Amino acid sequence: MPDRPATSARPPLRRVLVTGGCGFIGSNLVRYLRTQRPGCHVVNLDALTYSGNPENLADLAGDTGYTFVHGDIRDRALVERLLERCDAVIHAAAETHVDRAIMDSRPFMETNVLGTQTMLDAALHARERGAFAGVFLHVSTDEVYGSLPADRPDLRFTETSPLHPNNPYAASKASSDLLVATCRNTFGLETRVARASNNFGPYQFPEKIIPLFVTNLVQGLKVPLYGDGLHVRDWLHVDDTCEAILAILERGRAGETYNIGGHNERSNLELTRSILAILGKGGEMIRHVADRPGHDRRYATDTAKIERELGWRPTRSAWPAALERTVRWYIDNPGWWQRIRAGAYRDYYRRQYGETV
Ligand SMILES: NC(=O)c1ccc[n+]([C@@H]2O[C@H](COP(=O)([O-])OP(=O)(O)OC[C@H]3O[C@@H](n4cnc5c(N)ncnc54)[C@H](O)[C@@H]3O)[C@@H](O)[C@H]2O)c1
Repeated sequence: MPDRPATSARPPLRRVLVTGGCGFIGSNLVRYLRTQRPGCHVVNLDALTYSGNPENLADLAGDTGYTFVHGDIRDRALVERLLERCDAVIHAAAETHVDRAIMDSRPFMETNVLGTQTMLDAALHARERGAFAGVFLHVSTDEVYGSLPADRPDLRFTETSPLHPNNPYAASKASSDLLVATCRNTFGLETRVARASNNFGPYQFPEKIIPLFVTNLVQGLKVPLYGDGLHVRDWLHVDDTCEAILAILERGRAGETYNIGGHNERSNLELTRSILAILGKGGEMIRHVADRPGHDRRYATDTAKIERELGWRPTRSAWPAALERTVRWYIDNPGWWQRIRAGAYRDYYRRQYGETV
C-alpha cells in the first residue's frame, strides 16, 4: 500500500491496556498517557520480572485513572478479560536484554514469541464476542533489521527492509512482529508495529549501557566497554518514544509499521566518553572487555514515514542536553538504582562481567 498522510483521527482514547508498564519504556509510557490523555484510564499488566519495578510508577499511587494488574501476558483468559472495553492495547512487555538472551534464550521465546501470540489470540477472542474492537499496537525494535556497516552512514533501514535478526533477542522480536503481521493479514485485526531505536531516559534497568555506566562511575567502579567500542546506536529519548507511540496509536494506519529514531547516532565509545566527561572522570575508568558474540555494528533506521504521515519528529533526544539530563536523573535518584543493584543483579553482573559490584 502506498504511503499517504493519515486523514481521520480515531475517537478519543478512554481505556488502554499497556503490557510491561512496570519496565523502563512501559512506566514512562503509562505516565505519559496519564498526563497527555487524562481522560483515558490506563490498565497496566505486568508480571514483575527482574526488570519490572512497581517503584517506577510509585507516583501514580492513588490515581483513579490507573490500575495495576500483576499477571502474565501468557495468561490468555486474564488478557481477554482485561481487554474488555479497551480502545487499544500497547504491547510492550518483553524480555529485552541481548546479553541475557545470549546466556539463555528460552525466556525470550516464551515471553516475546509465545507471549505475543497469546496476546493476539486474546484480542481475537475478545473481538469475536464483541468485547474488544480496538487497536493492537506492538512495540518492537530496530534490532529486527540486523546490522549495517559503520562506514556507510548513508545506509538506513526502512520499514520494508528485510528482517535479519542477529541475536536471540532480535530473533524473538522479529518473530513477534511477524505474528502481528499475520494476525492482521489472516484475521483483519487492527494492528500497528512501532520499531524504536535504542532508548534512554529515567527508570532504565541498570544492565543497559547508560544507567550501567553512570551507576558504576558514581560508585567509583570502571565501566565495561565491549570490544573496540565502535558499535553505533541511534539514541532516542524515551519521552520521544512515548510521543511517537501515541501518534501511531491515534493517527497511524491499520496494519502499518513505523520506525522511530532519534537522529542521534553515536558509537559506544563516544557515548562512554560523554558520560565520563559529564561526571568529571577520565579514560582510565574504561575497562575494555571481550566483545559481545555476534555484536551488531550499527543500527540506523529511516524515519521518513512517521515524519511524513504523522508529522512526528524527535524533539527531546538531542545531545548533550538530553544525555546530561538523564545522567543527572540517576545521580539524583540513588535509592532507585541502589535497591536494584543490591539484589539478584549482583549475580547477573558477576556472570556477565566476571567481577562483583
Ligand atoms: N529499551 C530500548 O532501548 C528498546 C528499544 C526498542 C524497543 N524496545 C521494546 O520496548 C519494550 C519495552 O522495553 P523496555 O526496555 O522497557 O524493557 P524492560 O525490560 O525495562 O521492561 C519489560 C517489562 O515487561 C515485563 N514483562 C516481562 N515478561 C512479562 C510477561 N511474561 N508478562 C507480563 N509482563 C512481562 C517486565 O516485568 C518489565 O516490567 C520491549 O518490547 C522492547 O523490545 C525497547
